[in-house]
Amino acid sequence: MSLLFAAPGWDEGPWRNRFAALLPGRALVTPEKLVDRAAVRYAIVWRCPRGLLAELPQLEAIFSLGAGVDAILSDSNLPDVPIARIVDPDLTARMSEWVVLHCLMHLRQARRYERQQRERIWADDHDQPAAADLRVGVLGLGELGRDAARKLAALGFQVAAWSASAKTAPGVACFDGPAGLEAMLARSDVLVALLPLTAATRGFLNARLFARLARDGRLGGPILINAGRGGLQVEADIVAALDSGALKGASLDVFETEPLPQDSPLWRHPAVFVTPHNAAISHPDAVARAIAAQILAHERGEPLRNVVDRSRGY
Ligand code: NDP
Ligand code: OXD
Repeated sequence: MSLLFAAPGWDEGPWRNRFAALLPGRALVTPEKLVDRAAVRYAIVWRCPRGLLAELPQLEAIFSLGAGVDAILSDSNLPDVPIARIVDPDLTARMSEWVVLHCLMHLRQARRYERQQRERIWADDHDQPAAADLRVGVLGLGELGRDAARKLAALGFQVAAWSASAKTAPGVACFDGPAGLEAMLARSDVLVALLPLTAATRGFLNARLFARLARDGRLGGPILINAGRGGLQVEADIVAALDSGALKGASLDVFETEPLPQDSPLWRHPAVFVTPHNAAISHPDAVARAIAAQILAHERGEPLRNVVDRSRGY
């Protein structure tokens, strides 16, 4: 019995060590070394080569190495076995760190003071809003959105969040559905996207949406923060909105094409923070532990957790 580990471009060494310790006696094979396809019961994947999973006749479950499963679901030849995604406190905490960091960098004008330091300018106009002056809207009130919203609220931001179905969260104004979206956008100085990429959310962060954000906030214009997926955003619209003032700034961790092409204007835009899709990495310690626990529970006859709903796409 073997585990397929298919994550092109990742260093498999740390994963091999963790799984050997957590699931002794099971071979971990990569697609290049895969000979006995019928021996594979579990596939552990991130951007797995398309069609490969359909070639594993004894496959019982697919474990995503990430929280987002859009790449897995884009395989049109996917076998009919459960897909479980990562929901783990370590990954959630990392995402909230990134979201809080970027909300604070825009609030505290990090770019301005970085420039001033470089030029040795001591200037403070004393117009520093407090967190409580800013309205943050979080798109997606799932595992990640909920934790980020809670931590932002604890810092004093006025936090709202939007989801597909009606939700509640302490200290967070909750909105859902199309009417809820309008209301939330209209009260958002900072918009944080933590949505999955699905047919319904592709291209969601576009010029029409930016035009519906609040324009009377203390930062002089709305801020876009996206750590969901690059496919949520229309980058040409983001650049145009930044240039026209429809957006005041942006923090982007994910892009339409990754790595972000060298000629993208986002690299050099003075109002943009770019990070290389590492807002919340899947750390082998946490993620191998979570997947091994799922496999052991499955073998005890317990149901898998965090199973993806294929019809919703997340
Ligand atoms: P969840 O599935 O837990 O939450 C998704 C949220 O989005 C839910 O609240 C859901 O609503 C909402 N949602 C989905 N579709 C719609 C829609 N059409 N309209 C309104 N709301 C919608 O996902 P996670 O929070 O765990 O992760 C979110 C995403 O973050 C992942 O899919 C992945 O793409 C991204 N990610 C990025 C990382 C990075 O490093 N940049 C790391 C990890 C994840 P409802 O609650 O009603 O279902
Ligand atoms: C994920 C990611 O989905 O890292 O977990 O993007």
